[in-house]
Amino acid sequence: MSEDLQELFDTTIADDQRIEPRDWMPEGYRKTLIRQIAQHAHSEIIGMQPEGNWITRAPSLRRKSILLAKVQDEAGHGLYLYSAAETLGADRADLTAKLISGRQKYSSIFNYPTLTFADVGVIGWLVDGAAICNQVPLCRSSFGPYGRAMIRVCKEESFHQRQGYELLMTMMQGTDAQREMVQESVDRWWWPALMMFGPPDDESPNTEQSMNWRIKRHTNDELRQRFVDMSIPQAEALGVTFPDPNLSWNEERRHYDFGEPDWSEFRAVIEGNGACNVERITNRRAAHENGAWVREAATVFAAREREGSQK
Ligand code: ACO
Repeated sequence: MSEDLQELFDTTIADDQRIEPRDWMPEGYRKTLIRQIAQHAHSEIIGMQPEGNWITRAPSLRRKSILLAKVQDEAGHGLYLYSAAETLGADRADLTAKLISGRQKYSSIFNYPTLTFADVGVIGWLVDGAAICNQVPLCRSSFGPYGRAMIRVCKEESFHQRQGYELLMTMMQGTDAQREMVQESVDRWWWPALMMFGPPDDESPNTEQSMNWRIKRHTNDELRQRFVDMSIPQAEALGVTFPDPNLSWNEERRHYDFGEPDWSEFRAVIEGNGACNVERITNRRAAHENGAWVREAATVFAAREREGSQK
């Protein structure tokens, strides 16, 4: 029986069809998906903090309303992804508990501080740009609810990226001080953005299996290269440079060559020792604890509604 189920699963994957929540799946597949989707959901929720930092200080009402809407979208993405994880049998309260106790990861990028308003633009352009590069292929991920969630998330991320680029274009047409602020911000975010794609392929323990299961469609290095290639013409159009002396077009490979990110910094950040790890988790824990009464009230209210509808 279980051999038949395994065969059906293998054929479904080989035929590029989707696995749905009620289908049989190997335990490793389920675990890998819960790990990746939970990490992704946590990233969206923690990712609200760096930009949220600028909502009260946005330079105009227009920029403030755009930023508010964007941060709200990230919350939506997080909830969407937690729901996808629930279809695999995960419990949202348990995932949150794992996040705030440091037992589950979230993206390294959100442990860097947002020091100037230009960071809001650079996060839109480079961080959301890297997220799109990584997530568009996930729309074809073999697990149905994850792939479908990614379609909407990518549409919104693409909008976010454009607003970031538009913000930077506006600043680049402003004063020298504004142009310097944009360049300084790009210098700080470039390498952390490249690290978002994860460790190099030969140090990535999960890639091979995740590619065989068609959860991931490309390796970390393939996507990093794609991101570098697409970002360089955008930087030229904007009038900024990236802080990498090794960036150069390689005619033979028909790709840009680029330098090596500082992987010791990446490891330190994901082990909890980045500039803002403690602050991010402290804020998330406080929000969770302060929201306890809302969850209790909502649970009691839902139970009463159920009782009422049964009468
Ligand atoms: N930040 C934090 N942890 C990371 C990062 C990163 N940038 N990259 C890799 N890791 C972790 C992995 O989770 C894994 O840890 P674990 O085994 O303890 O879970 C470990 O480093 C080794 O990495 P890989 O074997 O390469 O892991 P994986 O195959 O899961 O690939 C990747 C990592 C590319 C991030 C993948 O999980 C993915 O595509 N996730 C979905 C996208 C996502 O989460 N984006 C979040 C940021 S985008 C945003 O929110 C705007």
